[in-house]
Amino acid sequence: MALYSEKVMDHFINPRNVGVIEDADGIGEVGNARCGDIMKIYLKIDNDIITDVKFETFGCGSAIASSSMATELIKGKPVSDALSLTNKAVVDALDGLPAHKLHCSVLAEEAIKSALKDYYDKNNIEYDHSLFPDCENCSHGCGE
Ligand code: FES
Repeated sequence: MALYSEKVMDHFINPRNVGVIEDADGIGEVGNARCGDIMKIYLKIDNDIITDVKFETFGCGSAIASSSMATELIKGKPVSDALSLTNKAVVDALDGLPAHKLHCSVLAEEAIKSALKDYYDKNNIEYDHSLFPDCENCSHGCGE
C-alpha cells in the first residue's frame, strides 16, 4: 500500500485555498516546535459563517495537505463547526496519514482555533477560554 492516500497526494500537489486574505476577520499562526513547520490561516466571517478561508503553510507535504483539506471542511460552515473541527476529522477526510505524520494534521486544527480566537478577541466576543488551550504548553501531543 502506498504511504500516502490519493487524497493526500491530490491536496499536496494541488492545494485548495492557498493565499492571504488582506482584510481577514481572524488570523491564526501556529508552529510545530520540533520540525519548525509553520501554518497560517486567514478567516473571513460574516454573520457567524466562514465565508472565506485561505492558508499559507511552510511545512511538509502532510501539513500542506492537512491545511488544504481543513480549509475545505470549514468553508461556508458556521463558526461552531470550525471550532469543533478535530485533526482526526481532517485525517479521516484525507483517507488517513501515516502514524508519524499525524502531528502535521494537529497543526491545521490549532491554526484554525487560533484564527477563531483572534476573531473573538478582535470583536470582543465572549468565549469559553478552555476551548483555546495554550498550545505552547499543552499535553496535546502537538510536537510529537
Ligand atoms: Fe512538520 Fe509535518 S513534519 S508539520
